[in-house]
Amino acid sequence: MPKLANIYLIFDFFITNADYRITRLKSYWADAEKKGAVESEHRNKLVNFSVYYIQRRLTFDYIAKKFIIKDAFFKKNSTVTLKIISLALGMCYFQSNSEGVLSELKIILRQYHNGAVASTMVVAVNNFLEKSSFAAPELKHKDEALGLSIRYSCPRELASHFISEAGMENAVEILENSIKFPEAVFRLNCTILHSQKLRDEFIAKFSEKYMVDVKRVYRDTPYYSCDRSAFNFTLTDLYEFRAGLLTPMGRSAFLAAYLLDARPDELILDACASPGNKATHIAELSSSAAKIIAVDTAEAKISKINDNIDRLKLNNIFTMCASSEFLDAGKLSGKFSSIGSDDEIFDRVLLDSPCSGLGLMRSRIELKYRFNGSDLTAMPKIQKPLLANVARLLKTGGYLLYCTCTINKKENSEMVSEFLNANKNFSVVSLKDRMDRFGYEFNILDGDYEMMQILPDAEGSEGFFYALMRKN
Ligand SMILES: C[S@@+](CC[C@H](N)C(=O)[O-])C[C@H]1O[C@@H](n2cnc3c(N)ncnc32)[C@H](O)[C@@H]1O
Repeated sequence: MPKLANIYLIFDFFITNADYRITRLKSYWADAEKKGAVESEHRNKLVNFSVYYIQRRLTFDYIAKKFIIKDAFFKKNSTVTLKIISLALGMCYFQSNSEGVLSELKIILRQYHNGAVASTMVVAVNNFLEKSSFAAPELKHKDEALGLSIRYSCPRELASHFISEAGMENAVEILENSIKFPEAVFRLNCTILHSQKLRDEFIAKFSEKYMVDVKRVYRDTPYYSCDRSAFNFTLTDLYEFRAGLLTPMGRSAFLAAYLLDARPDELILDACASPGNKATHIAELSSSAAKIIAVDTAEAKISKINDNIDRLKLNNIFTMCASSEFLDAGKLSGKFSSIGSDDEIFDRVLLDSPCSGLGLMRSRIELKYRFNGSDLTAMPKIQKPLLANVARLLKTGGYLLYCTCTINKKENSEMVSEFLNANKNFSVVSLKDRMDRFGYEFNILDGDYEMMQILPDAEGSEGFFYALMRKN
């Protein structure tokens, strides 16, 4: 385990930072290493501990509160004391023993308390650890949502939201999977690595170069995952990323391009496209034969799509800065001369809508702490006019794929049902056959393949919603 100095740095990071994003803590440890404060062999472990702790910090805070006894001596500096004890508990649970931690804890607590108080606290923590054997706190609680919130470190309102959306059993699974270590998942660029032989060779070299075990995610697909805790880089730092050979992407996000199923010579609209992960994937899958118009609202967002197009060496995506809520034939033909004046322009439309993002808590750890119940009602107000407008731009006989990375009926199944009620010329298409090709049991709420709510699973698939509609 890291030395005393490193442990002080952990305390420093968590006590002085309110912002727990992974990118931030990665650069924190990288800076500490540059300054010589952390040995490089410990950096990876410190990043891994930090991720582990952030995922569980409310749980450890809850346990730590027990040790701040309501007595004037103990209450002194109670905020910082709580954080220190919470971190020490986190470290003990992370390494499944208290070796080296409790003596450090005593030294640190003595900066804030007299020796007797510090010793009493450490003895209490030690007794607790011996009794608990590093088991997570009990789920049983009169208030079910509070029980989940304590055990899985999330705001009570969020636990309550998952119970009402998906039932208690699914809520437990969603939250249990949100505190698993985030994996690194990526797709290979099949326009460059165009045969299975090339892809196999690439993966063999990649595993050897970075000393990681790389596994294929779904049957017959160019998607791979590796254990992120085994390396201390991010995929976007790698030469292989810059050379356009791989693109990081979540397991459920891969599905969009397959479910849309663009054919050669078709014209596709990606209505909310930045940073272009799905647009470039659609382009790769259609072997550069379909034409894709990728729209987003700001120039900075369009630059991100253009960077990805260049990196992946694709030539069939055309970007446009506009709001898809107000996109029409006039605006499109002003930019692309091949488009005429009829509003029914596209063969297929992908609406990967802005959303509350509650399906991605495993990889974007900070999301659950930022949860704000008002997103659940604010987002549908943005999604509804977007869906209505892009539907107008679809040709009769064309397909519209609506998706979000969240678990919220108001943004998902209710949004689509309301749209279908108002637009009788649209019908929903079952995704069952398209999903079967993956040979993988996704965790699909109510087994519904028409309003397909994928729940996060133990393997690492994220929460996503897909509904495919046909314009008749
Ligand atoms: C979920 S993200 C899209 C991710 C993207 N499809 C990908 O796979 O890389 C949603 C995007 O919608 C964009 N957006 C929000 N409102 C929009 C609007 N009215 N018109 C176009 N894009 C919009 C946001 O800027 C954001 O980039």
